Amino acid sequence: MAFVERVFSGVQPTGNLHLGNYLGAIVNFVKLQETHNCIYCVVDMHAITQGVDVWGGPAELARNTREVTAAFIASGIDPKKHIVFNQSQVAGHAELAWIFNCVARIGWLNRMTQFKEKAGKDRENASVGLYDYPVLMAADILLYRATHVPVGEDQKQHLELSRDIAQKFNNDFGDSIRGHGIADGLFFPLPEPLITGPATRVMSLRDGTKKMSKSEPSDNSRINLTDDADTIAQKIRKAKTDPEPLPSEEKGLETRPEADNLVGIYAALAGIGKQEVLKEFGGGQFSNFKNALVDVCIAKLSPIAAEMKRLVADPGHVDQILVDGANRARTIADETMRAAKDVVGFIRQR
Ligand code: AMP
Ligand code: TRP
Repeated sequence: MAFVERVFSGVQPTGNLHLGNYLGAIVNFVKLQETHNCIYCVVDMHAITQGVDVWGGPAELARNTREVTAAFIASGIDPKKHIVFNQSQVAGHAELAWIFNCVARIGWLNRMTQFKEKAGKDRENASVGLYDYPVLMAADILLYRATHVPVGEDQKQHLELSRDIAQKFNNDFGDSIRGHGIADGLFFPLPEPLITGPATRVMSLRDGTKKMSKSEPSDNSRINLTDDADTIAQKIRKAKTDPEPLPSEEKGLETRPEADNLVGIYAALAGIGKQEVLKEFGGGQFSNFKNALVDVCIAKLSPIAAEMKRLVADPGHVDQILVDGANRARTIADETMRAAKDVVGFIRQR
């Protein structure tokens, strides 16, 4: 079947949206609106896969769901032209995930590094949902037959699994798919990851070898989208560096993770390449560069933080955006689910 190009991506409402989420994902979400039909999902069902102590309980989940929605909109996502909704409002995600549970193999899931990281040493005590997380993610994407998925570098392996699931479904049900009128036997597209820009993996401000993350205990390790100007300035001034001046060539960043990270952040925020950043700041001291970084960071993030604040102050309005988005998402999802049920052999009302 010929697939129309469609973009899908998701962000978990687990608190502390940070510069990594913004540069690795949201900036690309915004840009893709110009060229594609886009669906952006607040994945609240993924958010509850770790212990309730991690996701914070019902009130916190609802608050975070509205906050991610506000971040999308404040960053420039247009919920009227595209679709913004929270996952749990469209039943098809869970339904398709069940079919995919029976397509995906345990051996495939056993290779997922994110599960190993998140489950830690006490794997017996991890939730079944955490283990199954990448299967739900495949369902998110394929429920809309999305062809392109903008994500940060850390989601690459999950995207490969989504492709494997799509391919195995197409193979396992090939005859039935053709029997239902899809002559080429391709029921699902193989979704392509879009991992682009100079900041696909933003690192911690305290340790250039660790990813910037929502769950890192030290708040100084990340810049949150809701940080005020003074906090941003303080965190950047305190950020770890090395004693050398900045290099003039990108090659000089190779063994200097902290410098590489800060240059990458600057490049991404300013919308230029790392080489251009080094042309301007190479040979100079970190302090000058950090001052410039503070300026560009505040210039980009402050208006977003202000708009987020305005939006979350009106939860009724945000909820209405999510309901409206879910209604439109459901129209597409229901069509896929009806066809998928026919292909699998599930009887349904006609
Ligand atoms: P999550 O908060 O785990 O739902 O992630 C939402 C999006 O942000 C995904 O596309 C991630 O790949 C991306 N992301 C998360 N952390 C980082 C980071 N440190 N650098 C770049 N992208 C990131
Ligand atoms: N697993 C993604 C993350 O942690 C979030 C996510 C869930 C997602 N479903 C998705 C991303 C579908 C892209 C497409 O970042």
